[in-house]
Amino acid sequence: MSKLQAAGEKNDSTMYKCWLKYYKLSNKKLLADYKHLLSEILVVEQSHVILNAVKELERGINGILGIKPVISEIPTKEAYLILGTFDGVKGLAPLSEEEKQSIGEEGFLIKPVTENSGKKLLVTGRTHKGLLYGVFCLLRLMQTETKIDAFPISENPVNQLRMINHWDNIDGSIERGYAGKSIFYRNNKMPRNLARITDYARMLASVGINAIAVNNVNVHKFETLLITDKYIKDVVKLAEIFRNYGIKIFLSINFASPIQIGGLATADPLDKKVREWWKSKAEYLYSHIPDFGGFLVKADSEGRPGPFTYERTHADGANMLAEALKPFGGLVVWRCFVYNCLQDWRDRTIDRAKAAYDHFMPLDGLFAENVLLQIKHGPMDFQVREPVSPLIGGLTKTNQVLELQITQEYTGQQKHLCYLVPLWKEVLEFDTFAKGKGTSVKKVISRKVFNNKFGGFAAVANIGDDNNWTGHQLAQANMFGYGRLAWNPELTSGEIAETWIRLTYSNDRDVITTIKDMLLGSWRTYENYTSPLGIGWMVNPNHHYGPNVDGYEYDKWGTYHRADHKGIGVDRTVKSGTGYTGQYHKEMAELYESLEKCPEELLLFFHHIPYDYKLKSGETLLQYIYNTHFKGVEEVEELKAKWLSLKEKVEKEVFIHVLERLDGQLEHSKEWRDVINSYFFRKTGIPDRLGRKIY
Ligand code: GCU
Repeated sequence: MSKLQAAGEKNDSTMYKCWLKYYKLSNKKLLADYKHLLSEILVVEQSHVILNAVKELERGINGILGIKPVISEIPTKEAYLILGTFDGVKGLAPLSEEEKQSIGEEGFLIKPVTENSGKKLLVTGRTHKGLLYGVFCLLRLMQTETKIDAFPISENPVNQLRMINHWDNIDGSIERGYAGKSIFYRNNKMPRNLARITDYARMLASVGINAIAVNNVNVHKFETLLITDKYIKDVVKLAEIFRNYGIKIFLSINFASPIQIGGLATADPLDKKVREWWKSKAEYLYSHIPDFGGFLVKADSEGRPGPFTYERTHADGANMLAEALKPFGGLVVWRCFVYNCLQDWRDRTIDRAKAAYDHFMPLDGLFAENVLLQIKHGPMDFQVREPVSPLIGGLTKTNQVLELQITQEYTGQQKHLCYLVPLWKEVLEFDTFAKGKGTSVKKVISRKVFNNKFGGFAAVANIGDDNNWTGHQLAQANMFGYGRLAWNPELTSGEIAETWIRLTYSNDRDVITTIKDMLLGSWRTYENYTSPLGIGWMVNPNHHYGPNVDGYEYDKWGTYHRADHKGIGVDRTVKSGTGYTGQYHKEMAELYESLEKCPEELLLFFHHIPYDYKLKSGETLLQYIYNTHFKGVEEVEELKAKWLSLKEKVEKEVFIHVLERLDGQLEHSKEWRDVINSYFFRKTGIPDRLGRKIY
């Protein structure tokens, strides 16, 4: 046991184990069926990934069935599980060409085989990684009491890149981290606790994550050195842990590295020496990490260096790095979060929402084929409600990756319950109309629309070294849900929630329905008592926690609500506002442009409207703000009551922990309610129609 573990990481607790708890099933019949099939595992190939798959099977079978399976190369029992690739299981189990053809590089097939001599269960795939995913799927099916021996189950991931971005700094802090310190670093040293990082890799692999960027996109002094001798051995160690779970490691790089660590006078992407420098850096990295994933880059954004310094474009910058990585198959994941963060709030001609599109649309088609543009799901910054970025589906000739934020920067910082899968589902289902009706975001990023080479998902992690990983234990559902959605965006929010609950707590009906109910409504509840109708922000500056309606109103960040005594909202129409609506394809542009047709939940994002404007429900805008804020708090009270009903059904440690968080949320939601309602009451002088207390 490492010192750190001794100091408080209880890796045998439910909180720590997350959805890989592997608790014993109570369903006797299923238990007997599973035991019959799974008391022996035939392993026909060897590799680190397979070894980890076998270890996981042993762990899972041990926990779920309470038996220790025999691992063998030659079967000794009548029924057993066979784990092997198509090549490996040749002669051991029948597989048709069609079956094989249907499985891709990362897919798997779980197939019951009945022969004269008895029943077998085959877990197979094209690659070792596919087998690992097959094993995690099998264990998930078992834990959720699903029959596994009735018919074959095969899956391939829908998305190619399924990435996690860590905003971890080498001093151990995490930008926008709400669950303790980094699991990777402490005091400019790394890696920390290898056992814990291995458990993390297991968690990620279990939901199909295949790429991870291990340092903050804001690359400071020490992190710039990750690509040098000072840290490379440590990066190699991290890469090895993740590799053995099928995950490729990426590094966020500092665009000014050639100056800061290369001794050059410039980082100009068109400078020959700079290009050579990056090429030799790539050679260096691949000589240490042959399967290195590539670079994640935040450039010309919020003070970070970038090609603009040299009057070059982002295509110039990204392509330079792409050229260096190309011989090794590496990727450049280039972020589109580029905007003017030194805006004058008085100047209404600039609209931050327009920035990403304005910067990147003119470059469509100019990026190298191993460059992927990573686009935040909304045009602003992970607010509780935003429209979908028009850049997604705007670009047609460029690889596109959707960026989500699992860490709850603007959604309650893991002190409030906010299950984010329903938000992400809305983004994925959004119709861009890029190629007519039905061109949803999920199709665009999974490369079903344009002829792109790469695409997929990236998301900012919500993980830290708190014993339960995510601060709020229920926030584990967001990490789980992200991985499952990236694997298969067709899964519903409810399906994902239910699976997570069954894996984490139990198969008890009350537990499932109660927690599912809590999760599914929680985003809407959070929205109810925070900023209304898509306007966003209204938070305390810098740390972004807690209400402050004018917190960003007279600041430089481009995030304004423009409230006065008559009305609120930002006019982003073409007709009379900033023109942002014009960035969408015609169908959506028309919808957003029109006050009558604009979806109400985004009304204040697109229009400036008077407080007495009548909504479809018949209530005025102001009364709607009052109503939702009172309702939001009542809903948190209901959340608490629901949780209390589970007192006898969830473990004491978990029960108390979640209850404490809900108590905190309740108090804080009242703060939100009262600050927001009082603000609008004081601006307008119009009281609540229902006479409730406003200050
Ligand atoms: C937000 C966040 C920053 C982060 C930035 C980014 O603005 O508050 O901490 O660096 O997003 O995505 O780069």
